[in-house]
Amino acid sequence: MNIPVRPLVSASLILAVSAFVLTGAVADGGHYFPPVADKTTADECGSCHLAFPPSMLPAASWRKLMGQLDQHFGDDASVDAASADIITRYLTANAGDSSGLRFSGKLLRDLAPGAAPLRITDLPRWKREHRKIRAAEWADPKVKSKANCAACHEGAARGYFDDD
Ligand code: HEC
Ligand code: HEC
Repeated sequence: MNIPVRPLVSASLILAVSAFVLTGAVADGGHYFPPVADKTTADECGSCHLAFPPSMLPAASWRKLMGQLDQHFGDDASVDAASADIITRYLTANAGDSSGLRFSGKLLRDLAPGAAPLRITDLPRWKREHRKIRAAEWADPKVKSKANCAACHEGAARGYFDDD
């Protein structure tokens, strides 16, 4: 009775290993920001907009954002205290200045030390990367907001922000 079990187990092991290798390979060559992997954060921070990758802002920014969720860009994005605690810990532990990731380092490079912007779209480097985009493109009804990353970055939800 062991026979049907064994191949199943090894097949799923092989799948797991190759998925890991693939992710690593693509991450190395692309502009990859690991997407939110924490369920509470994905649920609470992904309902109105993309759950922004934690590595796109420094920990101080996440702390500030989490400290004023009742006044969140004109919305009330409050969560209960237990969820806020989980989310704050997840975002700060994986923030751009704690993860050591290559591309978040680049995105935060021109940020003044100690600065805690509330928006990714306010980062000097983000502005520079998007400087060639014309006003008409931002105003396109399919885009509407600079924060609507997925309108232009098809792979945003998977963590990819190169320009295909
Ligand atoms: C009730 C809706 C709502 C929820 C829930 C919500 N947000 Fe937002 N968020 C907004 C709005 C509205 C904006 C402004 C979007 C714009 O400028 O187009 C925004 C913008 C942001 C931005 C700045 C985007 C930029 O311009 O770079 C960050 C960062 C952000 N939210 C983080 C979070 C986090 C973290 C959570 C979870 C704790 C969260 N949001 C939950 C509505 C929400
Ligand atoms: C109107 C379309 C549009 C929106 C909306 C947009 N981007 Fe971009 N983004 C671009 C284009 C086009 C480029 C490529 C610029 C270049 O290569 O010259 C780019 C480049 C980037 C890069 C640099 C990647 C590289 O190849 O160097 C990052 C990171 C990025 N965007 C993140 C974001 C994030 C995060 C958001 C949302 C907060 C966002 N973008 C919203 C169009 C957009």
